[in-house]
Amino acid sequence: LGHGRTLQSVAAESRVTAASLPTVLVVAAALIDVDGRVLIAKRPQGKTLAGLWEFPGGKVEPGERPEQALIRELKEELGIDVSENCLSPFVFASHAYDSFHLLMPLYLCRRWDGVVTAREHDGLAWVKPSKLSDYPMPPADEPLVAWLRDLL
Ligand code: CDP
Repeated sequence: LGHGRTLQSVAAESRVTAASLPTVLVVAAALIDVDGRVLIAKRPQGKTLAGLWEFPGGKVEPGERPEQALIRELKEELGIDVSENCLSPFVFASHAYDSFHLLMPLYLCRRWDGVVTAREHDGLAWVKPSKLSDYPMPPADEPLVAWLRDLL
């Protein structure tokens, strides 16, 4: 320690640091097809976490409800139309990245209109739940795999 710092002051500083990390709300979807396979999408080159396989979705913009944001993101990223009553929240991911705290509800979605197309990703894969762990994922997404395996 030293420099007049006590255990208490160090603890107080780390609380301040943790509390001042911005929280970012991202919504994500597990699209599930008739065979029970789940869609994951490869993050494109040039973005953070490039090459990792994520559940598609994105940031909730100010004033949006999470479901509206997810519907917008699924249209932008995959070209599909999803109706709000087909989306059910399933589990929240929570991960402390270096510069922000990510909160990310995962919604289950079994019905959509249109053909799923990679508009912003480097690839798409429909994967059996038991095989999801073969795909490297962002740390926030990884814990969601076990939840999905238990559910499906
Ligand atoms: O802004 P960018 O397109 O990179 O990302 P986003 O999809 O809007 O999500 C913001 C951040 O949340 C990403 O940079 C990732 O760090 C994180 N994220 C994640 O960990 N897992 C996801 N399925 C989606 C986003």
